[in-house]
Amino acid sequence: MAEILIAPSDQVFVLTGAGISAESGLPTFRAEDGLWAGHRVEDVCTPDAWRRNPAEVWAFYSTRRAAGAKAQPNPAHLALADLEAQLGDRFFLCTQNVDDLHERAGSVRLVHMHGELARSRCERECGRLPVEDRALYKSLDEVGRCACGGRLRPHIVFFGEIPLEMERIQDEIARATLMLVVGTSGSVYPAASFVHWARQHGARAVYIGPEPPLNASAFTQVVEGKAGAVMPGLFEVAS
Ligand code: APR
Repeated sequence: MAEILIAPSDQVFVLTGAGISAESGLPTFRAEDGLWAGHRVEDVCTPDAWRRNPAEVWAFYSTRRAAGAKAQPNPAHLALADLEAQLGDRFFLCTQNVDDLHERAGSVRLVHMHGELARSRCERECGRLPVEDRALYKSLDEVGRCACGGRLRPHIVFFGEIPLEMERIQDEIARATLMLVVGTSGSVYPAASFVHWARQHGARAVYIGPEPPLNASAFTQVVEGKAGAVMPGLFEVAS
């Protein structure tokens, strides 16, 4: 039975995290066997790691590219694409995930605040746009250079860097009346603050995932379960 009723006046903002892709076979970060269990963040996901050892950074993201390319969208990604098809411009999706499973499920109105696995950009921030790049690099010699001479780096927001599209995200949160948050532990900022920003102007907020996130007390409702199992049929859009 549908648990979340979406009224004709509702404007929906969705935030997703690694948990929504877990049932597609992509590991989350903070689980015992998660991505950060096998790697030190400081070695693969900081500006300093990139300066010290770009080969190791590329090895990590090449492995993640390979896993991302093999994964398929699951029923949770499809449920959000279906919701967007019903709501049109009353729907906005912000994902912390760098995989492209939302796009492949059919989502269109979305931003990747932490970047995208399938893109690279110049390390020098010379102004050229990120380019599509699905290569799996085995050594640094294979990594291309920008026209300005800078080395291509993953189009990923490293720890300590500012997330992408923050202005648009803030505007969308400001007009949201319903925030849905799926599969994120609530431990990385600013994403973990989004629920507070939405609640400050009276929006209701629902968390969907198998365990309560760190910021659970900020939500008006928690739907406990794996996203792919509970999301199909969860929403009823009133006309
Ligand atoms: N369905 C829904 N949620 C799930 C599922 C599932 N099947 N399986 C696990 N989860 C939940 C976990 O309960 C956990 O709360 O997904 C969450 C994953 O949390 P994290 O591993 O911390 O991932 P996330 O919150 O997306 O991390 C945020 O941290 O490392 C950085 O930049 C990286 O975007 C990432 C950010």
